[in-house]
Amino acid sequence: MMNTAYKVNGNIDKKLRLGSTDEEFFENHVLHTDNDKYTYETITETANFLRQQVPFKPMVGIICGSGMGAYWDEGCLADALDGKIEFPYESIPHFPRSTVEGHVGKLVFGHLSGVPVVCMKGRFHYYEGYPLWKCAMPVRVMKLLGVTHLIATNAAGGLNPNFKVGDIMLVKDHINLMGFAGNNPLQGPNDERFGPRFPPMNTAYSRELIREAKKVAKELKMQDIIHEGVYTCLGGPNFETVAELRMLSMLGADTVGMSTVHEVITARHCNLTVLAFSLITNMCITDYEIRDNPNHEEVIDVGKQREDVLKLFVQNLVKLISKSCKK
Ligand code: HPA
Repeated sequence: MMNTAYKVNGNIDKKLRLGSTDEEFFENHVLHTDNDKYTYETITETANFLRQQVPFKPMVGIICGSGMGAYWDEGCLADALDGKIEFPYESIPHFPRSTVEGHVGKLVFGHLSGVPVVCMKGRFHYYEGYPLWKCAMPVRVMKLLGVTHLIATNAAGGLNPNFKVGDIMLVKDHINLMGFAGNNPLQGPNDERFGPRFPPMNTAYSRELIREAKKVAKELKMQDIIHEGVYTCLGGPNFETVAELRMLSMLGADTVGMSTVHEVITARHCNLTVLAFSLITNMCITDYEIRDNPNHEEVIDVGKQREDVLKLFVQNLVKLISKSCKK
């Protein structure tokens, strides 16, 4: 039976980690008290494990969500890295596991446009049963590995009527709805080695990177599909009701999804520079007479259709980030 004997100093006894799937489930889904939160030392262990096997320091961390290859291998951004070194999530000490069916969970190190990067191929979601601090833990690992910039991508529903399926929205701000309800990845004891107790969020998204991203989009002749707006995250896994979408729209949200906000909060807490964008995979239905349903398949399909454009976009962004760091 599952009991506290599995825990040593609030962490899972590693010897027991490799046990039955029940134990894995226990570790991943059940033990979520404050005492189980990752300490700085635990995350250092994870970073050290990776550092010992990767002969370079990544500068940019990229989170590849549902719209960017979390569900497929061939042709995705992580696949395009030069000199790839891959770590399935289950092989990394203390890392959560991907539980979304079809999500390929791995951390991929390599070079993109000559720049050292680390990609999360597939992320962790609240709807999988993970608390927000666990969903966002890889961002802290990136920080300890030396990452200075985070590019967070997501698939999202478009609320702004000017958007179309396949468009890209650079995130200029977010509405942390789960935070309104008292759920935040930074809850609990604060470790100043990561960042301050009360981090600001009004400058969460780098204005400079947004400006530069727009220039990149223009160079790539993507100016007609690029927008800027406000992202909001709900816990999921269900898509939203009409009334909920109307409310979000009134609140000023342009896109809605099920990720990113807690990763960005964690990234800003430890002072990473952030650029985030949404791929609009479906338009939100805010009319009771429209009986179409949003569905996960269309989310992945649109991601695949936009794969080449997004890859090029991110490759150019990374080049630009590296140039701006050398200035
Ligand atoms: N709602 C929430 N999350 C999403 C959507 C949506 O419409 N599309 C893609 N992810």
